Amino acid sequence: MTKDKNERFHEKLSRIKKEINEKHELHEKMGMTNEIKGFQMKKTISGIKGLDPLIDGGFLESHSILVCGEPGTGKTIFGLQFLYNGVHDADENGLFVSVEDHPNRLGYYANAFGWDFFKAQDQRKIDILRVPIDHRGYKIVDAISERAEEIGAKRIVIDSLSSININAKMFDLPLRDQPDPTGTIKGKILHTAGYVPFEDMQQFTYLFISRIADIGATTLFLTDTPPGTAALTKDGVSEFVCDGVIHLQLHDTSKNVSRTLTVKKMRGANMVPGMNSLRFTKTGLEVGEFKAFY
Ligand SMILES: Nc1ncnc2c1ncn2[C@@H]1O[C@H](COP(=O)(O)OP(=O)(O)OP(=O)(O)O)[C@@H](O)[C@H]1O
Ligand SMILES: [Mg+2]
Repeated sequence: MTKDKNERFHEKLSRIKKEINEKHELHEKMGMTNEIKGFQMKKTISGIKGLDPLIDGGFLESHSILVCGEPGTGKTIFGLQFLYNGVHDADENGLFVSVEDHPNRLGYYANAFGWDFFKAQDQRKIDILRVPIDHRGYKIVDAISERAEEIGAKRIVIDSLSSININAKMFDLPLRDQPDPTGTIKGKILHTAGYVPFEDMQQFTYLFISRIADIGATTLFLTDTPPGTAALTKDGVSEFVCDGVIHLQLHDTSKNVSRTLTVKKMRGANMVPGMNSLRFTKTGLEVGEFKAFY
């Protein structure tokens, strides 16, 4: 590293440290910091009314959370709310990565709850990245991390992991920290050793989640639950790889349709297990006490 580069590196490092300290002080004031022998993980609000008390105060920053549910259970709205309230209540910018919906449509859905996504996009607080499914060799992780970096995103929503999995063969994922596979640079460990398309969906899912987690943002992976089975996901691995799992369900009884939310797992949190009611209000999704179906 040249002196110039060295200096820039240290400048960047002290800037980051300053930022971390400032945020840490704020969180300490709010009583939201977990510090164990110098290692800290901070809590950030979920933005979903009624959810934080169930997960020990909020998501741990930089965690990967899987939000799974059958079609129509509210996953996309959950993701939009997490981003919008992240900007408004936690001053955290957010990136919405969509395979399914055009940005205008997402803005329209959000508007129904009074969330002005168009304004937030103009202010560069929220950005929406549309992932193409017909671009062979698309470097999906690079595209997401570049867009996240552009707006300093602290939150990312992937809508959806299941759609990305279906199209896995179209995407190349970066391989890191391994010897140069061509052998031309002998004995060197390459930081980015190349990009590969994946044939195996589970392996793809595992690496995709890990690479997105490397970005360091608190990330929601929205994914479809296969209808009529006990499985949470079709890929069968994302529920193990992610730090937290939230399950959204629709229950159709003879008299009405009820929505529920269940926290299945939340690493590092004294979480409250079991079903809770979930309902749409004028300002978004709200978690409440579970009432038996009838
Ligand atoms: N503004 C609203 N007010 C009340 N209910 C709404 C509103 N917007 C959406 N919904 C309900 O939420 C459901 C869909 O929500 P959402 O798109 O978040 O589900 P999803 O789980 O992402 O579905 P999919 O798996 O198809 O992507 C709708 O079918 C509707 O019942
Ligand atoms: Mg959706």
